[in-house]
Amino acid sequence: MRIVLGVSAGIAAYKAVLLARLLTEDGHQVDIIPTPASLEFVGRATWEAISGRPVTTSVFEGVDEVRHVRLGQEADLIVVAPATADLLARIRAGMANDLLTSTLLASEAPKLLVPAMHTEMWRNPAAEENVSVLRERGIEVMEPASGRLTGKDSGPGRLPEPEQIKARIDQLLEPRRPAYADAPRAGTFYAPDHAGQPPLLGRKVVVTAGGTREPLDPVRYLGNRSSGKQGLALARAARAAGAEVTLIAGVMDQAPGPELRGVEVVPVETAAELQGAVRIETEKAHVLIMAAAVADFRPADYAAAKIKKTDDDAAPTITLVRNPDILAETVQRRAQTGTGPAVIVGFAAETGDENTEPLQLAQQKLARKGCDLLVLNRVGENLVFGQEDTEIHILASETAQSALDQDQPVHFAGGKQEAAGVVVRSATALLSSLPPST
Ligand code: C5P
Repeated sequence: MRIVLGVSAGIAAYKAVLLARLLTEDGHQVDIIPTPASLEFVGRATWEAISGRPVTTSVFEGVDEVRHVRLGQEADLIVVAPATADLLARIRAGMANDLLTSTLLASEAPKLLVPAMHTEMWRNPAAEENVSVLRERGIEVMEPASGRLTGKDSGPGRLPEPEQIKARIDQLLEPRRPAYADAPRAGTFYAPDHAGQPPLLGRKVVVTAGGTREPLDPVRYLGNRSSGKQGLALARAARAAGAEVTLIAGVMDQAPGPELRGVEVVPVETAAELQGAVRIETEKAHVLIMAAAVADFRPADYAAAKIKKTDDDAAPTITLVRNPDILAETVQRRAQTGTGPAVIVGFAAETGDENTEPLQLAQQKLARKGCDLLVLNRVGENLVFGQEDTEIHILASETAQSALDQDQPVHFAGGKQEAAGVVVRSATALLSSLPPST
């Protein structure tokens, strides 16, 4: 990947030398753009030696190749470390009075700014406002570390260690679709049915899995304990049945591994992202399996800067708003437009209460959501979340019951992978019972 590493005039510029080394050792092409004043701290020769690339600081050098435009256009990511208070102010104002600020202004590449300054400067309202405005514009500003600063003072304002910055860069450079999404399909995944054909061959199945995270501020979120295991098992089971599978992957305990070869993975984090991915991916899908634990609520407001403790011991009040019900919405869209998945499977995690049995609650949910099948998981302490084993009941809507000729919920207790197989078999049976046009 091509990374532009901007360096502004802070004593922490020496740490950027280590960062540049980590990046080049990883095989990235790193173009370093120091501000002219930063050369007082680390000289041009060091930067050229470490990056193996020519280094300039002004738009009047290398004019023939229009460097300030070219470097930014070719970059996959622009990182500025350290970013001084002065540089943040200049970026916020849209100034372009040296090669670094011109490159930042002329580029649409994602940008990561890593501030380093004295605590008083970091807390100065002018600097705070600059950081909030930059974040609102979609530029990522990392939180500085806390600790010993240049002089005898210490507090927030230290440049995070090069390894920490590198870890964030690695995350930002991760492809939206992991490489294994494009891997060749493995024929051995197919489990032929009695006619010798994988039962879902030529059918598209969309599985949602994992939990969602609803951000409160750049460092905090509301989340849930979904491990994503059941969803991964469902994607594997659908793949094994020969389907073309798209996994919309929320936050999971473990990343989808290479055993999901041939499965297209769409990573999402918030309920809104999941909603968008479901809309797009289900347009041409035959089956939707909504195993994701979607947050029902999200913070009404996102604070662009980290919410701070105040001196008066007061705690902030967080107002929540409802998230859309993605499952119900997909059912409604199908009813209104006649398009979308012919089979829609929902999940319900129920503990039951003193008055109502989990099965009864699931029955009510099936009716409320309008999906075709509803998989009931009994939850409680040490039940289901993150565990290998599960117990499920698969309830069918009235229409599905008659199509499947089934009047009782299907019950299964055992491993999550086998449970996934049972769910996929029920969905397949329902799909095959429908007229061929669907
Ligand atoms: O209402 P409840 O959260 O129990 O419903 C669970 C089912 O609804 C799951 O299939 C889940 O993926 C889906 N769901 C959704 N959108 C929400 C909440 C849940 O699609 N906002």
